[in-house]
Amino acid sequence: MGCQYHAPTDQGADSFTVAMPRLTVGRGTLREVGERAGALGISRVALFTDPGLLHGPLVAIVRESLAAADIDLGIFSDIRIEPDDESVERGHAFLTDGQFDGVVSVGGGSVIDTAKAALVLHCHGGKALDYFAPPVGQGKPISGPLLPHVACPTTSGTGSECTSISVLRINALDCKFVFASPGMLPDVAIVDPQCCDSLPANVVASTGFDLCCHALECYTSRAYTEHPKIPSANARQYIQGNNPFSELAAREAMSIVGRYLERGVNDASDHEARDQLMWGATLAGIAFGNAGTHLPHAMSYGVTHLMKDITTEGYAINSPFIPHGISVIVNAPSIFRYTAEATPERHLEGAALLLADAQGATRDDAGEVLAKRMVSLMKATHMPNGLTALGFDEGHVAALAASSIRQGRAIGNAPRASNQVDLENMYRGALRYW
Ligand SMILES: [Fe+2]
Repeated sequence: MGCQYHAPTDQGADSFTVAMPRLTVGRGTLREVGERAGALGISRVALFTDPGLLHGPLVAIVRESLAAADIDLGIFSDIRIEPDDESVERGHAFLTDGQFDGVVSVGGGSVIDTAKAALVLHCHGGKALDYFAPPVGQGKPISGPLLPHVACPTTSGTGSECTSISVLRINALDCKFVFASPGMLPDVAIVDPQCCDSLPANVVASTGFDLCCHALECYTSRAYTEHPKIPSANARQYIQGNNPFSELAAREAMSIVGRYLERGVNDASDHEARDQLMWGATLAGIAFGNAGTHLPHAMSYGVTHLMKDITTEGYAINSPFIPHGISVIVNAPSIFRYTAEATPERHLEGAALLLADAQGATRDDAGEVLAKRMVSLMKATHMPNGLTALGFDEGHVAALAASSIRQGRAIGNAPRASNQVDLENMYRGALRYW
């Protein structure tokens, strides 16, 4: 079905699945958490949140709402920004000890991802590592449903409330990997833009670039018809490739980034911009949650694997730490310069949606037009100027590529094939942009 991009292939998939939670969007909807949890049959809830939100107004609203619905609660706030297998184990132990029949998560991607992964361990046993695909883990299947989960994002980037994945650091390997299963999708997502009113500018910027790359990667990923046919109805992975539904959401998300990212970062009182960015993050989450990302996310894991002695203002976490969105965007212009030759029209469309000056541009200009626009957005929102600004230099390029090449599934979703040398060249092109 669909346009030329999704043309049938001999061995390729001929169908795709769209999965998303029951989604509610709007200012003030955080007050609906209690009623929504009650409708899912929850009578004693584990509330996952982070220490920075624990005593703030958003968690207070949720607690009042749960109390009004006669739902008892216990609170887990021992969250690690960028969760790891140990922090997930702590969440698992909390669930096991508390006799809960559901979870509400209130926070950014780290909180929601911790809740999802802890729920898997609670409901199906084992250790986090067991569930990762080989060669990292044993590929243990998740054989049934989890407890009901109401996810409430408080940042405008990860889209975790709308995806069936958790990104976890595996401490033994000192690297992040994706933990994915259809059962991990939250049942209900409540997206209340008031949650982003007080976010610092650099958090809006880094999460905004995460959303930007979710949408761009989804839009430029290989068509689902170029991925192999699935062996059984339940075997379809979230990385199923670009499809007609995902690209609808990705297009709108890119348009939102083009119009509102600079405004939302540079003016905290611009509610229109911040509300739109939160909607864009949700759309991009739905988009990549049903298509997958590719090289910018795959190559971000090399950056966070090998970072040393670095912190980012506004994030309360010890060194070394680079926010996810920064680790993704820092390589993205260089990567899209490389991938553009495979799907130049899609790169040009993406650039146009981001409001690039694409007048008179030809297919040969696609990568450069898109990269230039991304770099201009990075400059306007005070992002680091390439890998050099994060402490890397030419001497790190081979190790960065060797680390990221392990993200085989995401790399395989890119429109253009790449090997170790190609990744090295993309990292080299990301050392400095201006
Ligand atoms: Fe991301």
